[in-house]
Amino acid sequence: MSERILVTGGTGYIGSHTVVELQNSGYEVIVIDNLSNSNADVIDNIEKVSGIRPAFEKLDCCDFQALDAVFAKYEGIKGIIHFAASKAVGESVEKPLLYYRNNLLSLINVLELMPKHGVEGIIFSSSCTVYGQPDQLPVTEQAPIKKAESPYGNTKQINEEIIRDTVASGSPINAILLRYFNPIGAHPSALLGELPNGVPQNLVPFLTQTAIGIREKLSVFGDDYSTPDGSCIRDFINVVDLAKAHVVAIHRILDKKQKEKVEVFNIGTGRGVSVLELIHGFEKATGVKLNYQIVGRRAGDIEQVWANPDFANNELGWKAQETLEDTLRSAWNWQLKLRERGIQ
Ligand code: WQD
Repeated sequence: MSERILVTGGTGYIGSHTVVELQNSGYEVIVIDNLSNSNADVIDNIEKVSGIRPAFEKLDCCDFQALDAVFAKYEGIKGIIHFAASKAVGESVEKPLLYYRNNLLSLINVLELMPKHGVEGIIFSSSCTVYGQPDQLPVTEQAPIKKAESPYGNTKQINEEIIRDTVASGSPINAILLRYFNPIGAHPSALLGELPNGVPQNLVPFLTQTAIGIREKLSVFGDDYSTPDGSCIRDFINVVDLAKAHVVAIHRILDKKQKEKVEVFNIGTGRGVSVLELIHGFEKATGVKLNYQIVGRRAGDIEQVWANPDFANNELGWKAQETLEDTLRSAWNWQLKLRERGIQ
């Protein structure tokens, strides 16, 4: 029988792509999600892409009893990939308690239930925001953790500590923390992608909505940074590449290949790309001219960050494969498909 993996937040952007890659790798996947930032038709699309319909339970990971019941219902879950969290940086500043309750309590419940149900390993969805503005670039996993710029970023830092303390206390679990850089793009089938609620906060969904005419123009938040073209620099990573990193990480845990009970990996391409370079890359990749304007800086933005992915490449055995141009094309195809389906 295939090994069972529980994916929390599995109807979300990164979660849904990871479910497909887990299924492609032969795992049986159980998805749980409270649908606060996604909808259940993602399960239909996962089935269309992979040919396998994952079990789906609508529930909130903050509901201990409901979560306990899912573990009991699906016996023999071997590993968990924990995506479920609120993730809008700006919203976290306005509603910090919602973020602390949701993002911390959901993880605490998962960690508390794992030993009770014999679940061996957890892959935690962390973020490069824990580094703040690194002193040195590219940034390695040894870079110091800096004071978070937002409650959202702080919940990622605190969650990493909660995991470390829980493992150190003797809890019989292992963990891999994946620090994502900037996930972008969509599945090549254009059946899975990023579907932000309301006005997109992140660059690429706002860009493709501008390109298709939903938004009038894209604002570039600042071109007076100390970077070659003045705009911020990020490490934009293809979402399918990112999803594949989770499969490699779960293999590592279940095959007992870890060298420490808690391991951390930067999941990035190792290439810094500026906002203006990305815009021009989109225009070149799609032939679509973009209407944008330079405006003032956005509060909380760091100037530049990109990964040193050597540890993930050499130790984890994962490396980003997709080009920026192909990734931007996939984002555009997804936006076109949404229009075709009358969704946006
Ligand atoms: C990228 C760059 C903006 C929108 C956040 C989270 C991070 C991760 C990814 C979850 C910045 C500029 C943006 C726009 C712009 N999330 N920009 N115009 O802030 O790097 O990271 O999302 O894991 O944890 O912090 O991503 O896409 O918002 O911004 O100029 O309309 O694009 O200033 O330089 P960010 P982003």
